[in-house]
Amino acid sequence: ILYSFPDAGSLVSSLASFILKAQKEAVEKKGRFTVALSGGSLPKMLSGLIGHPSVKWDKWHVFYADERVVPLDDPDSNHLLCTDTLFSKVAIPPEQIHAIDTSLLDDLEELADTYEKELIREFAQKDAARFPVFDLILLGMGPDGHTASLFPGHALLAEDDRWIAWLDDSPKPPPKRITFTYPVINHALRVAFVASGAGKVEMLRTVLDEPEKGLPSSRVKPVSPGQLYWFVDDAASAAVQYS
Ligand code: 6PG
Repeated sequence: ILYSFPDAGSLVSSLASFILKAQKEAVEKKGRFTVALSGGSLPKMLSGLIGHPSVKWDKWHVFYADERVVPLDDPDSNHLLCTDTLFSKVAIPPEQIHAIDTSLLDDLEELADTYEKELIREFAQKDAARFPVFDLILLGMGPDGHTASLFPGHALLAEDDRWIAWLDDSPKPPPKRITFTYPVINHALRVAFVASGAGKVEMLRTVLDEPEKGLPSSRVKPVSPGQLYWFVDDAASAAVQYS
C-alpha cells in the first residue's frame, strides 16, 4: 500500500494516525505495542505523536531495526537521535526502550547476540515463535536502496536464520552496525517505509517498479498476515508507475 502526501505536514499527521491504529489493535489484543525504529529522518517524522492524547506510551516496547555500534552519546547513535527527537519528549518507561549494550562495543558478535537475546526475552517466551512478530517496524530507505543496515550486494541479504546480524563493513559510515535480518522484518504485522524528498524519486521508482533488481528495500515482503506500507511525499513518488 502506497500513501503519498503533498507535503511533510500531511505525511506526519497521517503516519501518526496509522501508528495509533496499530497501537490500539496491539494493546487491545496483547496489552502492549512492540515497535522497531530506524535512524535517518524517521524519528523526526514521528513528531505527530508527541502530545497526542491517544498515545499510550507506557505500552510501547521499542527496539532498533538497526543501530550503529558506537557509544550511546555518540552523534552517530540512532538511540541518541531517537532520544533527542522523541523519547525525551514522551513517557516511555526507560526499561521498555532497548538500546545496545555498550560494554560490548569491541565484540560485535557478542553485542549482536546480546541484542538478539533481548528480542528473544521480549517475544519468544510469549509466542514461542521462530521469529519475533513486531506490531510495527518503521524503516527508511537510503539513496542506494538500503534499508535498516541491509546494503546492496551484502552477504547479510541472504541471512535467514539469525534475528540480529552484525557487520563491520557498512559502505556508509560508521562501518560497525547491527541490523534486523529479513526474517525478522518480514514477520512483522506491519512494516512501514517512510521516505520523502525529490532525492528519493529514482530509487523509489526502482524499488517499487523493478523488484526483480533485488535492491534491499524491494526484499521487504511481509509474510501473511503482515502488510507493507509506504508513506512518501509526492516529490518522492513522482516517477512511480505501477504500485
Ligand atoms: C544509516 C542511516 C540510513 C538512513 C537512510 C534514509 O543507517 O546510515 O540511518 O539508513 O536511514 O539513508 O535516510 P533518510 O530517512 O534521512 O532519507
